[in-house]
Amino acid sequence: MANAKPRVFVTREIPAAGLDRVRQACQVEVWSEPLPPPRDVLLEKVRGCDGVLTLLTEKVDGEFLDAAGPQLKVISNFAVGYNNIDIPEATRRGVRVGNTPDVLTDATADLAFALLISAARRIVEGQDFIRAGRWKTWEPLGHIGQDLRERTLGIVGMGRIGTAMARRCRGGWNMRVLYHNRSRNEAAEKELDAQRVELDELLAESDFVSVHADLNHTTRGMFNASAFRKMKNTAVFINTARGPLHVQSDLYEALRNGEIFAAGLDVTDPEPISLDDPLLTLPNCIIAPHIGSATVSSRDGMAEIAADNLLRGLQGDPLRCWVNRT
Ligand code: DGY
Repeated sequence: MANAKPRVFVTREIPAAGLDRVRQACQVEVWSEPLPPPRDVLLEKVRGCDGVLTLLTEKVDGEFLDAAGPQLKVISNFAVGYNNIDIPEATRRGVRVGNTPDVLTDATADLAFALLISAARRIVEGQDFIRAGRWKTWEPLGHIGQDLRERTLGIVGMGRIGTAMARRCRGGWNMRVLYHNRSRNEAAEKELDAQRVELDELLAESDFVSVHADLNHTTRGMFNASAFRKMKNTAVFINTARGPLHVQSDLYEALRNGEIFAAGLDVTDPEPISLDDPLLTLPNCIIAPHIGSATVSSRDGMAEIAADNLLRGLQGDPLRCWVNRT
């Protein structure tokens, strides 16, 4: 049995660009249902595995790692974000964790940009207006949105995706770029003339606030009633990062009361959003179903990196994108 292929569980079908290689090299079981495996099934499936390829819907914590067993070498997450994984716990047990950065940067920034212009110019609201049979004439005072040219953009989380979003807004509309980030991003300051400011200043000065921060205990709920109150009532809020960065009931109140102008979300809390969430009743809130990375090249690229991470981890080699390298 010394040459037996490693045992792997893959928690959903991913593009063949990665999955085919995993199938060749491993003894693999793929969860082929569209919905995630129920927790008890997941814990059963990972038992005895050497590697697991997970999605952001799978919570990887002590219970998961216990269920898998001490032979587990690697968790390869099919996402750039890894807030679904207890990294200290995986590290403590010597389990390598990989993620899939870079290949989805442009696709996600494009979506943030699309949400920004759609929310600012009320495009989805206009389509609903037509479908409801309410378009009777051209209205000089109707459907008026926000200008984009030379306004101020506030980026919260100036990493790869935040910088790509700022690049689009600077290049397309010559926006002034403010950012709030744990550390300075000198490259963005140089390229985009971006200015690092405190969060309160960013909220007060920005016409568009786009969040690209990691979800962790310091950022969870950072966009709450108090933050929305500090924003301009003409401001547009964009979140393509993680839903729990905003407090959804507070966002609803801010949009309903006109404390901010509009919002464009690719992420909600929870996901999927509940059909009776009042946000869905608001004309000034656009919501996409977490599709930031949903382009052919991004998803293929994610699959390739996730396969590389998994296969390298199984061999005890350094991962291509290694989150918990010590
Ligand atoms: C990620 O990669 O973290 C996205 O949210 C899904 O592509």
